[in-house]
Amino acid sequence: MDLLTAMQTMNACRYYKSDAVDDAVLAKVMNAARWAATGSNKQPLSFIAVRDAAKRQALHDLYQPIWDMVMQKYASGEFQSGFTPKFLAHVDHFAKHIAEVPVHIVVCAEWQSLSALDANLGRTVLTPGSSIYPAVQNLMLAARAEGLGTTLTTLLALVEPQIKTLLNIPEHIATAAVVMLGWPAKPFPKSLKRKPLADTAFLDSYGAALPGAADYV
Ligand SMILES: Cc1cc2nc3c(=O)[nH]c(=O)nc-3n(C[C@H](O)[C@H](O)[C@H](O)COP(=O)(O)O)c2cc1C
Repeated sequence: MDLLTAMQTMNACRYYKSDAVDDAVLAKVMNAARWAATGSNKQPLSFIAVRDAAKRQALHDLYQPIWDMVMQKYASGEFQSGFTPKFLAHVDHFAKHIAEVPVHIVVCAEWQSLSALDANLGRTVLTPGSSIYPAVQNLMLAARAEGLGTTLTTLLALVEPQIKTLLNIPEHIATAAVVMLGWPAKPFPKSLKRKPLADTAFLDSYGAALPGAADYV
């Protein structure tokens, strides 16, 4: 599979088969993560593949109340999503069935190695994640190339202490995300829904047209 096709079709998988992901495929996919760049090549990341059914159930039991709270806030209008009820039903199904997804990959980071260069700009801090998510994307694209589905989740950040206890994660390590991994129960999309290139790519100054961008809608 060529790289761009993998990128264009790597959706957030909401429906998984219960079939196991074998050792060789799991190791191959996890191997992709370590080739990502990290600031100063500090390589502060590690990844725990959780296959143990009781631990996956425990992760579900932590996730479900958070998702229920999010759903309530969408319903009350406190959170504005623009999501259709149909889309939310898919995400709700996913939340309810997380324990059945065969592998949960917990993304770990030595947080003291992550630079927050933009911490004093009076807005959301962006830079610490820049040494984390390239590796996560590598892993997910490698999974896509194998025909595996993935879902990047971050809601479990709200219960990091409980996850650290569950998985014996040491004090100096933070959890950045949990990637769900398994064989998809539905076909991959032909193409993801994303903004046209002309809306997101500019030349020389913000908002100035990039030649050729109109060819990519
Ligand atoms: C940073 C990030 C965090 C996400 N966290 C969650 C999450 O906690 N739970 C979830 O169900 N989906 C999560 N998603 C999946 C997004 O909802 C999904 O990628 C988005 O709706 C677009 O869907 P698509 O990639 O299939 O087009 C996350 C995605 C990203 C990139």
